[in-house]
Amino acid sequence: MANVDISSSRPYHIVIFGASGFTGQFVVEEVARTVSEGPNGTLKWAVAGRSRQKLDKVIEQAAGTLGKPELRTAVEVIVADVGEPDSLAAMCKQAVIVLNCVGPYRFWGEPVVKACVENGAHCIDICGEPQFLESIQLNYDSQAADKGVYIVGACGFDSIPADMGVLYTRDQFKGTLTALESFLTASTGPEGGSLNDGTWKSAIYGLADSGKLRSLRKKFGHKPLPVVGSKIKRRSALFYSNEVQQYVVPFMGTDPSVVKRTQRFLLEEHQETPVQYGAYAGVGGVANIVKMLFAGIMFWFLVKFSFGRDLLIKYPEFFSFGFFSKDGPTRKQVLFYEYLLFAKLPVIGVFECHSDGWLVLLVSDWCVSVSLRWRVRPSSLPSTEKVTLRDRTPARDDPMLRSAH
Ligand SMILES: NC(=O)c1ccc[n+]([C@@H]2O[C@H](COP(=O)([O-])OP(=O)(O)OC[C@H]3O[C@@H](n4cnc5c(N)ncnc54)[C@H](OP(=O)(O)O)[C@@H]3O)[C@@H](O)[C@H]2O)c1
Repeated sequence: MANVDISSSRPYHIVIFGASGFTGQFVVEEVARTVSEGPNGTLKWAVAGRSRQKLDKVIEQAAGTLGKPELRTAVEVIVADVGEPDSLAAMCKQAVIVLNCVGPYRFWGEPVVKACVENGAHCIDICGEPQFLESIQLNYDSQAADKGVYIVGACGFDSIPADMGVLYTRDQFKGTLTALESFLTASTGPEGGSLNDGTWKSAIYGLADSGKLRSLRKKFGHKPLPVVGSKIKRRSALFYSNEVQQYVVPFMGTDPSVVKRTQRFLLEEHQETPVQYGAYAGVGGVANIVKMLFAGIMFWFLVKFSFGRDLLIKYPEFFSFGFFSKDGPTRKQVLFYEYLLFAKLPVIGVFECHSDGWLVLLVSDWCVSVSLRWRVRPSSLPSTEKVTLRDRTPARDDPMLRSAH
């Protein structure tokens, strides 16, 4: 592993690249808060991006939100642009870890990974694009290993709760866990909510390019993972789930891909039994299905053409029925977001794990905590809570328990 100590030539433990983005701003606040809660002055960090003016504004905003005026002078700014390799190299030479929040990653991600590998910086991102994550594994795994550099993708809502949730559930399971399905539901507070259009853009280009993902996967030459126990059933594209008492669709994000890669690694490196995984997301009732079908048909059609993609990108609110917006959710809206991920296991029924109020280092517009249930923590609260994962034995009349039998 590369040296984690800072030095005069590598002065920052963490550089947040893309700090001016919607997600980047939350990462800045979270790092600032984490640093201030640790032993004073032990973690050195800086922000980076292509616009010094915007980065100054982000620091100003974080100083105001957190009530830490010292941030205005303490946080250094590094100007770096994905289109300018020398600027990326200069940034990576100064960092032990680059937190890369610049997306869509299919366009901007690889130069950053390359610069990190060449210049000995670890790289963590919040990518939710399987094609990017898998192509980086294919093309940079051995180079990164030779250099002692870690490239860690998908450290956001996609896919920490799913990946760690599967491992946590497996570890709590008395016996051999062979399969697990998760059902995600989301709820907003009285203010409503939306998601920032950075994720919308990644979805547009991801779908437009989905054929390439299939050919990329062939290049790995992986054998199918062995199935232990009975094979998990592939459900239909839309069905009513008794588990979450609403209609659900297969989850389109990176979770299945990330979980499968982890399970393959654990099998190949540690001879652990792989867990089969199916991911579903709740879409609500019939009215939402009608909207979703309408939006889905338009989306599938428009992503095929460049003029269609331009339209989708220009008018995210219109084409997603307000689900995505250029401004993203307001801070007030974010505070009320709550996501639930129910895991259903074969045989024993439903298993639910909770952990409220713990955020991973990289937060995003989805604001994540590492568990199967998570809620956004108001920025003003101190982050002294520890992760407390606990099982909940469903009550006898729990509808989830009933549906599992
Ligand atoms: N895994 C998850 O759960 C999760 C959650 C949220 C977001 N994401 C992903 O994270 C990415 C960012 O999302 P977001 O909503 O924060 O997007 P955003 O608000 O559009 O931010 C994009 C950032 O990238 C920077 N950027 C763009 N082109 C650049 C270039 N050539 N050189 C340097 N910086 C450049 C932008 O800088 P300027 O400010 O100068 O334009 C901005 O800081 C997306 O790919 C999204 O899918 C993942």
